[in-house]
Amino acid sequence: MQPDSPSLIVHAKSFLVLGIESSCDETAAAVVSSDKTILGQGLHSQFNDHRSFGGVVPEIAARAHLDQIERVISETMSAARIGFSDLTAVAATVGPGLIGGVIVGATTAKAIALAHGKKFIGINHLEAHALTGRLSSGLEFPYLLLLVSGGHSQILAVHGVGDYRQYGSSLDDALGEAFDKVAKMLGLGIPGGPAVEQCAKSGRSDGFALPRPMQGRAGCDFSFSGLKTAVRLTLESLAAKSSNGMISQGDRSDLAASFQAAAGDCLLDRLHNAVVRFRREHPSLSVPPLVIAGGVAANQYLRGRLESFAEVQGLTLVAPPLALCTDNGAMIAWAGIERLRLQGGDWPGDGLDMATRPRWPLDQSLDS
Ligand code: KG4
Ligand code: ZN
Repeated sequence: MQPDSPSLIVHAKSFLVLGIESSCDETAAAVVSSDKTILGQGLHSQFNDHRSFGGVVPEIAARAHLDQIERVISETMSAARIGFSDLTAVAATVGPGLIGGVIVGATTAKAIALAHGKKFIGINHLEAHALTGRLSSGLEFPYLLLLVSGGHSQILAVHGVGDYRQYGSSLDDALGEAFDKVAKMLGLGIPGGPAVEQCAKSGRSDGFALPRPMQGRAGCDFSFSGLKTAVRLTLESLAAKSSNGMISQGDRSDLAASFQAAAGDCLLDRLHNAVVRFRREHPSLSVPPLVIAGGVAANQYLRGRLESFAEVQGLTLVAPPLALCTDNGAMIAWAGIERLRLQGGDWPGDGLDMATRPRWPLDQSLDS
């Protein structure tokens, strides 16, 4: 790790936080200041390590985080042109996620904090996604949040830092997971979500009739496993009809586009119920904010659908830039800044004995 180089004069009341993310297949770090400037960032995506397995292998991920984390942090600090002594705190994801990788990032952050006498802040990865809209815009609480990532699909009312009410979640697969599995079935490789989006660009969204699970039902829960199975059955029937057992590029694109359209319909149907509930619970908000977060929120087609939905519903759509939707260090650093602000200057930070957690719901009433 690079030595301290006290090169930056930081305003007394401003914060400068190093954020470290390692809960899935991205080793990421960033230094963010409380005025929302990203001073430097680093990212190593492990796609090449997992490609031949067709998905993320937890043990390989943990080892790759260990190999890359020091370099990513050093590059981040160099890009930010600061030393560890300039930091207010070191924040890291402590859950939920693939536990081997989480331990690598959290332990590294604790070691830097201990060695340099800085506060350590343990971040809930989902909370970091949930607060990203406030880093990229002047968004105020409360807001309605659609959080769609590789591990989670949830709709939440966000009332403040640490104050979340879950309206609904996926009863089976997360939407990102469904994108990844569909990509694998279509032979598109990883990362699956962007590959399906790309393939769908030349396809017809009404090319194949696919189900819209949960559509029309009360509540805000999702289900994507039936949609994924329908894609598999369609593929099997296309392969059975073809002379060489292969499917054409046109069918592949049509299927990707039809899947994406069905996923979009499901999101909007569930969101419709969520908006009704959010408006009922927050009658004073004339134009409620709808915030999207998580890797799937980087999908341009879905962003377009959500934009139109927000317009029709009279909502303000807050969609962070693509690089802040997928896992990144800046969202972890920003969540650390939000915690620092909430707790006040005397707060010593989280304890270095803070445990890592594979599961950690945002809504505390669901934390059993
Ligand atoms: O938030 P994220 O980076 O990591 C988790 O916390 O899970 O989300 C990763 C997920 C993956 O399933 C990936 O395929 C999906 O987000 N994703 C996308 C797109 N970019 C990433 N899904 C659809 N379209 C995209 N452009
Ligand atoms: Zn994530």
